[in-house]
Amino acid sequence: MSHLVAPSLLSANFLNLEKDIMMLNQSEADWFHLDVMDGLFVPNISFGFPIIEKIRKATTRVLDVHLMIIDPERYLERFRKAGADVISIHMEACNNPVEALKTIRSLGAKAGIVINPGTPVSVLCDVIGEADMVLLMSVNPGFGGQSFIGTTMDKISDLKEMIRSQKLDVKIEVDGGVDLINAQILIHSGVDILVAGNTIFASPDPIQVIRQMKAIN
Ligand code: DX5
Ligand code: ZN
Repeated sequence: MSHLVAPSLLSANFLNLEKDIMMLNQSEADWFHLDVMDGLFVPNISFGFPIIEKIRKATTRVLDVHLMIIDPERYLERFRKAGADVISIHMEACNNPVEALKTIRSLGAKAGIVINPGTPVSVLCDVIGEADMVLLMSVNPGFGGQSFIGTTMDKISDLKEMIRSQKLDVKIEVDGGVDLINAQILIHSGVDILVAGNTIFASPDPIQVIRQMKAIN
């Protein structure tokens, strides 16, 4: 599979979200990355069900919902009902990630497990078998527009080795500080899905940036 590009709508214009969604619908964006924050797991609060439901009505693209919330088990069914196609939960925010991943799959969504920059890949060892995707945070979650943390590169190789040794088909997504330069290195390192917020939405020509990100080979 060639890599996917997932614009993070955290950087979109919430005063005119429809315009940005229509723009993304015209673009080569594969997934819409939706960042849900609870003000506890991360020091910020973003948006929840009503916004996701509206976005669901405005696009047929895959909705990739990144839950930065404590005890995400409480809300998995509601996020699925709101329209999530991929639901990712943080390892650090969840008491029983294996059960939560199984629940996500039983709801008919793809299941992602996320780790923060400070969390080693090794914690995924007994969990990764239940996941369709691992999301590596390359910034400390909570805000868009931060700089990429370089040590993420070592974690990609560790993760690839874990996937290989367990003979799994698990996709790798990277989120935070992705730009057109590090995107190339990430793709060459085997990343399957690139999330990008600021790089896309702060550009005068987001469609062109998405096109350039898709064209990396
Ligand atoms: C950070 C979020 C990211 C963020 C990415 O907490 O999970 O998805 O919006 O934004 P950029 O690409 O601007 O770092
Ligand atoms: Zn995210």
